Amino acid sequence: MNFAVLVSGRGTNLQAIIDAVKNRRIKAHLKLVVSDKKNAYALIRSRKAGIKNIFIDPACFKDREYFDRELVKNFKNEKIDFIVLAGFMRILSPYFIRTFKNKILNIHPALLPAFKGAHAIKDAYTYGAKITGVTVHFVDEKVDHGPIILQESLAINPKDSLSALEVKIHAVEHRLYAQAINLFARKQLKISGRKVKIL
Ligand code: GRF
Repeated sequence: MNFAVLVSGRGTNLQAIIDAVKNRRIKAHLKLVVSDKKNAYALIRSRKAGIKNIFIDPACFKDREYFDRELVKNFKNEKIDFIVLAGFMRILSPYFIRTFKNKILNIHPALLPAFKGAHAIKDAYTYGAKITGVTVHFVDEKVDHGPIILQESLAINPKDSLSALEVKIHAVEHRLYAQAINLFARKQLKISGRKVKIL
């Protein structure tokens, strides 16, 4: 199967995915990386790995759906079977989500449905949660909401600073995402309502 990764930032998850494809922990073909930010370091990581990468400028499109139509056009050209969001900071339109229904994966640095949103690690830390973690889920039309594929918990050590917690969360993310992507690529995930069965 062919897949694309959507990014906006530094791309440490993208790097973990590139590495996992290379050493066959993910048995699928990473064909395209798309960024909505021109200076995303993730684009440099793709270039270094020899993966086709493009920047699509949201400012060139009159609304969200037109931007997403451009994404779909690129994905169809490259015969992309599924999409992986890795720190992609734009909300996708219902049009895009319907076009790739049950074929979009996202990673979130907390145990959903707790601590949704863009600052989940910090939110869990400042809330005083004793346990947080990482969630990989399918994307549906609500933010941080679709059926959960994998979750892993992590105890928050009271001695940890926020940045120490971030390092631990990212290490879990990098391992868990590769595992979930490979399960999808091997057609080992079956969705039924909110439940995802691992075959
Ligand atoms: C990760 O923490 C991911 O869970 C969240 O955005 C962050 C992206 O980090 N969705 P990176 O760009 O992969 O380093």
